[in-house]
Amino acid sequence: MPKITDPIKINSMELPHRLVIAPNGKGYAYNDGTPSERLIENYRYEAEGALGGLIQMGITWFKLEGSCFGGFLSLQDERMIHEQGRLVNTIHLAGAKCAPQMFHAGAISVPGTDQAPPPVSSEERPCFFEGLETTHALTDEEAEQATIEYAKAALRGKEAGYDAVNMHMCHGSLVTQFYSRGLNNRKDRWGERKKEWGDNPLLFPIETLRRTREMVGPDFPIIVRVSGDELLGPEEGFTIDDMCQYIAPALVDAGADCLDISGGRLLRQSFWCIGPPVYFPHGCLLDLAKKIKKCVNVPVIAVGKLMEPKLCRSVIEKGWADLVAVCRPMMADTDFIKKTILGKDKEVRKCLSCNMCMAVEEKAGGLRCAANPAYGRELTWLPLRKTEEPKNIMVVGGGPAGCEFAITAHQRGHKVTLYEKSDKLGGAVHVGSAVPRVPTRDLVHIVQWHKREVERLGVPVFFETEVTEEIVEKEKPDIVVCATGGLDKVPDVPGVGLPHVLTNVDCLQRIPDVGQRVVVVGGHEGAEAAVSLARYGKQVTIVEETNEIGKPSYCHDFARQMKLQEFILDEKLEHPIDVVINAKVVEITEDAVKLQVGKKEQIVEADTVVLALGRREDDALAKILWAKMPGMVHRIGDCREVRSIGHATEQGAYLGRQL
Ligand SMILES: Cc1cc2nc3c(=O)[nH]c(=O)nc-3n(C[C@H](O)[C@H](O)[C@H](O)COP(=O)(O)OP(=O)(O)OC[C@H]3O[C@@H](n4cnc5c(N)ncnc54)[C@H](O)[C@@H]3O)c2cc1C
Ligand SMILES: Cc1cc2nc3c(=O)[nH]c(=O)nc-3n(C[C@H](O)[C@H](O)[C@H](O)COP(=O)(O)O)c2cc1C
Ligand code: SF4
Repeated sequence: MPKITDPIKINSMELPHRLVIAPNGKGYAYNDGTPSERLIENYRYEAEGALGGLIQMGITWFKLEGSCFGGFLSLQDERMIHEQGRLVNTIHLAGAKCAPQMFHAGAISVPGTDQAPPPVSSEERPCFFEGLETTHALTDEEAEQATIEYAKAALRGKEAGYDAVNMHMCHGSLVTQFYSRGLNNRKDRWGERKKEWGDNPLLFPIETLRRTREMVGPDFPIIVRVSGDELLGPEEGFTIDDMCQYIAPALVDAGADCLDISGGRLLRQSFWCIGPPVYFPHGCLLDLAKKIKKCVNVPVIAVGKLMEPKLCRSVIEKGWADLVAVCRPMMADTDFIKKTILGKDKEVRKCLSCNMCMAVEEKAGGLRCAANPAYGRELTWLPLRKTEEPKNIMVVGGGPAGCEFAITAHQRGHKVTLYEKSDKLGGAVHVGSAVPRVPTRDLVHIVQWHKREVERLGVPVFFETEVTEEIVEKEKPDIVVCATGGLDKVPDVPGVGLPHVLTNVDCLQRIPDVGQRVVVVGGHEGAEAAVSLARYGKQVTIVEETNEIGKPSYCHDFARQMKLQEFILDEKLEHPIDVVINAKVVEITEDAVKLQVGKKEQIVEADTVVLALGRREDDALAKILWAKMPGMVHRIGDCREVRSIGHATEQGAYLGRQL
């Protein structure tokens, strides 16, 4: 039986174990694709945690028109051989191996600069990101040249000292735009369909691999990343059957030494595969790798929420794949691989599947991690410095913000005491991670981590202690850190005080013990509660003031929002959810909610009404204390501004380093 600790070879590259880092574009490089010191230091930590294993770098562009956002590595010209060599040297010094990911965006291009030539694709088509230009369809000669450009960039990678290359032939990028049937209707040789390819137009990937092999030589490892299934059906994309029967064997014949199995296509409903959100089970893409492994004779890499060391080991032991790739688990804990290999499972800080790292709006300035706020900030944040002036600090609130602060400040040598009014640490995460019949459980990993660290480090905690002005006066701390969280907003509408009117948080804690006919006021914050209620057979009406639903303020994750909207519109529910948009609540009565919808009045009958209009800062104590001890009171997390777990932990981690 193979084991995760067994060495393996990919062509001439020997790896000491079966765990590799999945490609991830971090956005820390300079806009011309040069690695920054920040990026190099970040990779140094990952390289040490990879324990001699392989790091697959994020998308690495080589043509300006094929780049996507700013801040990604480039192998666009000879200059980059030297620039990337500095990064490669650091990774090698730490004992790991590395492979750039050859990427051309084609129609998913979002050039990091307006100097870029127009985007290109297999055909003339609108760019996948709305509002951008139409692509230029590559001519026969240009298509051939494009395959040569991939190969030249791979050679530059080899010359920079990389140990292998990963060819990005997945997620809808340029190569996929040629070989996905739904995206290529060309009539020339680049659109040719042959019987042995099962009607998939495969010339472009085959030529790309053939030329790459020619340039890098027979021994240099070429890993090919594919979407095992685009999950768009056989008309719009290719399926796992196409992949197993035709595409994967053809890629291996053309020179692939290893297949790395992801899934889906960017900006389509299968987008979730690129960073499976919290609603998806662990190992959600495993079936694709298992099936492909049965039809090729090269090593196969599995990926996708393999965040439990135990599951990683089973994948190898059961022979489902030859290697396991981890992306977000290594962001949440850059020692994930090391701890898994050493069997230190309990010490892993687990990913929350919250996808703060994926969020485009969070990406300005590079990706950030909710579980590991120091990720990408290693240069300035790590290692922690001991304080020269230890202070007596009182932390009010044991949610993610208060815990992260307390752990950091305690480690720096401050005398920290944590006060929590309930009987446990975790704050609002206990509600958000336990939505009945809506799987959000991964979020609780942050609570488990904080609890473990608070206990391990011996940070003193007073539970069931609601801090008041009097307690602070008695304790006389040097500094108070208020991390008291938020409260559900209650609108000023007649009837909100009636007994059958609940806040979102109250409702989530009571489901299913509420009335049969439920009106949920707030189609964003109330979306998960509405789905949960409907899954218990309740008759649910969502009332929403705007014209859209399913975008809770704490959720940074586009793929999760798409899925949540799908859950809401699920026709198979016993009672499909009614949605009334552009509607304002005028009054709540004992058995109904009166609405103003445009100019009309509408009445919806209700046994229970849920107020889910978002949350506001619970900052009353902070304001009182500030008046007494100005400058010595700090606010972090939802108590400063209601946002999300990631914002709470990063504010706690920052303040813990500042004081
Ligand atoms: C229903 C719901 C779903 C959510 N889902 C997500 C999600 O999917 N992803 C995401 O990123 N975020 C989500 N969030 C938001 C996230 O939970 C919060 O942003 C985060 O918990 C804020 O952390 P915090 O430490 O600032 O506050 P909290 O987690 O609210 O913790 C505050 C703590 O302070 C304690 N406290 C308050 N006053 C006192 C006092 N006077 N004395 C002692 N203790 C006190 C409270 O008991 C509480 O434990 C969700 C929130 C809710 C309500
Ligand atoms: C922030 C982020 C960046 C990513 N960047 C890339 C990338 O550059 N190239 C790629 O092929 N996949 C990319 N992916 C997908 C990952 O490689 C991986 O397949 C996915 O995250 C699922 O694995 P995980 O559950 O271990 O995170 C990215 C994912 C995330 C979350
Ligand atoms: S931001 Fe969230 S999903 Fe991304 S790696 Fe960190 S914990 Fe995991």
